[in-house]
Amino acid sequence: MDGNGRWAASRSLPRLEGHRRGAERLIEIVDACVDLGISTLTVFAFSAENWKRPADEISGLFKLGEWILRAHLSRLERRNVKLRVIGDLKAMPDFVRLPLQDAILASAKNTGLTLVVALNYGARQETLQAVQAMVQKAAEGKLNAAEINWASFAEHLETKGLPDPDLIIRTSGEHRLSNFLLLQSAYAEIVFASVHWPDFTKEQLHLALAEYAKRERRFGQTPEQLQTPPTP
Ligand code: IPE
Ligand code: MG
Repeated sequence: MDGNGRWAASRSLPRLEGHRRGAERLIEIVDACVDLGISTLTVFAFSAENWKRPADEISGLFKLGEWILRAHLSRLERRNVKLRVIGDLKAMPDFVRLPLQDAILASAKNTGLTLVVALNYGARQETLQAVQAMVQKAAEGKLNAAEINWASFAEHLETKGLPDPDLIIRTSGEHRLSNFLLLQSAYAEIVFASVHWPDFTKEQLHLALAEYAKRERRFGQTPEQLQTPPTP
């Protein structure tokens, strides 16, 4: 969800006002994903690298996150949304971590959209944690090197049990992944939207999905192979 700061700056507003408008937009996009029957939506809310920002922006972002969760908790229930978090929650202040953990528990039984919030998340950090966990298991004699394959490795990632992303949308005209789901996005289609996140309306989402629908996903195969039905 990129571009909140520039959206605000272009209107001579404080950056936090951009974040507030971005948070409102998130509600609309979650609703749109529920309406579309999308199974999983992952939003990059705060990266492990965002700690480098000024302290007042960080605390403003966290307060906003807490407020938005409280204001829209009942909506998760009403819309059958299951909340999940990836990233290191331990480093988050109690006033964010505790209500989030409550909301994750309360929504665990919901069966509609899985809303994954990436909070204090970084793909490299996630990968290193997975390697550390596996080395630990190996040292305890519970894992052999020969048993390590992508499926068993993915079990140690924070996204365990979640599907790989089919589509990644980067807003605000930037063309990079910025440490987001680097391994899981191996075959993701990437759509770059030029609008800043506060302007990413559900119509923008529909445009991104239309672009996705035009892509031919070959997963390493030739176009001809895709046209031939598999032999039984
Ligand atoms: C939102 O946009 C991303 C968050 C960390 C919440 P930015 O804050 O990155 O906005 P720009 O890139 O400065 O415009
Ligand atoms: Mg940015």
